[in-house]
Amino acid sequence: MSKKRSVGNTVVVVDGGGRGSVLVDKYAESQHVERIIAIPGNDLMQINTDKPVEIHPQIKTTSTTDILDICKQEDVALVDVAQDNAVEAGLVDILTQKGILVTGPTRNAGQIEWDKAWAREFGKIEGLPQPFFKICLSTEEGLEFLKNQPDQRWFIKAALLAEGKGVLPAKNNEEAAQRVLEMRKFGDAGKVFLIEKWLQGDDGSVGEEFSTYILTDGQHYKIIGSAQDHKRVNDFDEGENTGGMGCSAPPLVLTEELLKEVEAKILCKAVLGLNKEGRPYKGVLYLGGMVVKQKGKLHPYVIEFNARWGDPEAQVIVPSLVNDLYEVGLAVAHGDISKIDFKTDGKARVVVAGASRGYPGDYSQAIGKEIYGLEDAKKVDGVKIYGAGVKKINGRYYVSGGRLFYVVGEGKTVVEARQKAYEAMSVISIDGNNLHFRTDIGWRDVERLRKGKY
Ligand code: AMP
Ligand code: GLY
Repeated sequence: MSKKRSVGNTVVVVDGGGRGSVLVDKYAESQHVERIIAIPGNDLMQINTDKPVEIHPQIKTTSTTDILDICKQEDVALVDVAQDNAVEAGLVDILTQKGILVTGPTRNAGQIEWDKAWAREFGKIEGLPQPFFKICLSTEEGLEFLKNQPDQRWFIKAALLAEGKGVLPAKNNEEAAQRVLEMRKFGDAGKVFLIEKWLQGDDGSVGEEFSTYILTDGQHYKIIGSAQDHKRVNDFDEGENTGGMGCSAPPLVLTEELLKEVEAKILCKAVLGLNKEGRPYKGVLYLGGMVVKQKGKLHPYVIEFNARWGDPEAQVIVPSLVNDLYEVGLAVAHGDISKIDFKTDGKARVVVAGASRGYPGDYSQAIGKEIYGLEDAKKVDGVKIYGAGVKKINGRYYVSGGRLFYVVGEGKTVVEARQKAYEAMSVISIDGNNLHFRTDIGWRDVERLRKGKY
């Protein structure tokens, strides 16, 4: 099937959002890659490269048979399974069984994302720092458990994938009991759920979130970078939770000392633990972490693992990789990254997500409206544009979703990177004032730098 030619290779990227777009871009930079197929892909994937990018908008990331057919027909050299539903559907397993080279975790290894109950049990076995949790198999079990707990803040979480909506905060036991009842609305995903203590410092202070990304072949791993997402829809971290309105990288809260702790207490143990379990993890592992203050010192905890790059985190981490992504992907697929000399460019990056007004709620009024300025924004020095919910018709761009595009700025520091990103964002608009974006991405680190704390 996959003939290993040194030039002229076709790579398949399984994802349709900004994450898929930055991966397409990075594979296109490889001298070994001639063309890219993105499934489902999006209409902006051709924006940064002259190499042909073919998209398949009608194919779902979980349509394993269709994806297998394309890989066979097109004599594909490497498949990058970059999306959580595809991992859960066992796409990596199916392609691998057919002799196709794949970077991405098997369904079993990916259980660390798609089953939160399993992930917490695994964390317990491996001794990873994580909040106290209780796995509940029924509503009654959850309610009974809460009755016997001192009043406090909790998170109630559907165990299986619930389109990113299965995590509900509760500020006391009474609210937690209501959230337990709400688990039913997630159907099968919420049949098993977790009641988890709200992580906080021992003085009650809130933690600061970060995410760290490693590439691993199941035995060796390499930390590629870290980022800080901004999940709330509005400035000042207000409004509803979203898939992420922007990120900055690297997050300054992760000092060298803390990153060492993250590696020793979490990442190293996770990779070895998965291997020990007979689920060697191949691909990108994403640690969603939080640092909290205990006895006057910051310590990292596991909030979750994801079996993929983050979105929009990938947009600020993947471009920092100096290595040829095709060579890295092949090494992962062959199960040995030990000979790769991983290098990153050390630049700071900020990504700002452009969304439809109303997102993550109702944004139907924005659908079909024209988007202006994407090509001009791309011309700003040190800026890249990546797409998601955008339709291209006769060379013009139109809204086709809630998350539309991503503007990435790079620089020596987060201040410079952020200034670039917003300079580019300022030339983009949507008919009827339908563009929404946050104006404060990277605020924590910009403040830190202003105060001279770093
Ligand atoms: P998730 O949907 O799993 O990404 O969780 C959504 C958000 O809830 C996370 O980004 C954290 O901000 C927060 N969160 C989840 N679990 C906890 C926890 N145990 N303690 C504090 N914050 C949490
Ligand atoms: N930005 C959060 C995620 O990719 O899950």
